[in-house]
Amino acid sequence: MEFSIALLKGDGIGPEIVDSAVAVLEKTAAKFGHKFSFTPYLIGGCAIDETGIPLPPETIEGCLASDSVLLGAVGGPKWDDQPGNNRPEKALLGIRSALGLFTNLRPAKLYPALRSASPLKDEIIGSGFDIMIVRELTGGIYFGDRGYREGKYGQEAYDTEAYSITEIERIGRVAFETAMKRSKRVCSIDKANVLESSRLWRRTMHSLSEEYPEVEYSDMFVDNAAMQLVRDPGQFDVIVTSNMFGDILSDEASQITGSIGMLASASLGDTARGMYEPIHGSAPDIAGQNKANPIATILSGAMMLRYSFGLSAEADAIESAVDRVLDAGYRTADILGSTDTAPLTCTEMTEKIIEVL
Ligand code: IPM
Ligand code: MG
Repeated sequence: MEFSIALLKGDGIGPEIVDSAVAVLEKTAAKFGHKFSFTPYLIGGCAIDETGIPLPPETIEGCLASDSVLLGAVGGPKWDDQPGNNRPEKALLGIRSALGLFTNLRPAKLYPALRSASPLKDEIIGSGFDIMIVRELTGGIYFGDRGYREGKYGQEAYDTEAYSITEIERIGRVAFETAMKRSKRVCSIDKANVLESSRLWRRTMHSLSEEYPEVEYSDMFVDNAAMQLVRDPGQFDVIVTSNMFGDILSDEASQITGSIGMLASASLGDTARGMYEPIHGSAPDIAGQNKANPIATILSGAMMLRYSFGLSAEADAIESAVDRVLDAGYRTADILGSTDTAPLTCTEMTEKIIEVL
C-alpha cells in the first residue's frame, strides 16, 4: 500500500528523532512491501525563524493533503520571548485544531526491562501497569474565551473552561471503545465537586456508560487521581479526561514509567488522518548531540501504522523490535541504569532497532 506522511520535525531534538522514525518506517515499508513518501513542513521555532510565524499556512495545507502526520517537538529558549500568540507551542494547538484532532491517546506503560528506572517503589509497581490516557484535545480551557478585563483588584487576565455535551460524548465514546479492546475499565477524571463544566462532563459520561454495560465505569476527582497514580497505578486501565487535566496527568503517568523518552502518542479526529508525536519535548540541552532517545518517536510511527493505516502486523513488528532491543540490554543515556554499560547514541539505537526488525 502507498501512504504519504507529512513530517513536522520542529525544534531541538525534533529533526534527529524524526529522522530515526523515518528510517524505521522505511525499513518496515521495505519488509512488508509498502511505499511511504515523506514531505517535511515547518512548525514551531524554526518556522518563526524562516517565516515569522510558528504555523505557516503551507504546513496546514501540507498536513491536510497527507495521509498522516509525524511530529518531533517544538519550542526552545530561543523563542521564549515571543508574544503568547506567536509562541512555538501555539502552533501545536493550531495544528491540532486545524486537523480536527479532538482525541489524544497517551499510553503510559511500564516496560519490564526498565522497571528499575521508575521512581516508584517495587511494591507499588506490583505486577506493573499499562494505562491509556484519553485526553480531549481541541476544547476546554485551551480554546475557551480568554483575555484581560477590569476585575475587583484592577486589571485581571482570564481563561475559560467550557465543554458541550457533544464534545464530552465524542471523547467519551473513544474511551469506551478503547476500553472494549483492553481490560474494559474506564475511569473518567474531573473536578465535579467545584466546576460546572465538570458536572456536565460527569453526567454525560454516566449516561454514556449505560451504552457500554460490559465496561466497568468509575469517576474520580482530579486531585485524587493525581494521588492514586503514584499510590496504585495498576488500578487504572483507560482514563478519560479534559484537555488540561489530561495534559497534567499524562506527564505524571509518563514519569512513573521512568522512561519519558519511550512514550508515544496519537492525536486523532473523525478521519483516518492523525498526528503522531513523542510525548517528551524538544530537549534543547541535548539537541544536535546525537544523544536523544528516538524510541518514543519510533513508537509514534508504529501507532501511525496501526491507527491511521490499519497496518497492525507492521506496527507489532516495530514494537516487538523495540522490546527485543531493550531486553538485550541496549539503552540510550536517558534510560541508562547504574549497572549498564555505555549508552547508545540516537543513531546507534535506531540502527539496532532496524537490525532486529
Ligand atoms: C503537550 C504539551 C502541549 C500541551 C503544549 C506544548 C502546548 O504540553 O502536548 O502535552 O499543553 O498540550
Ligand atoms: Mg503536556
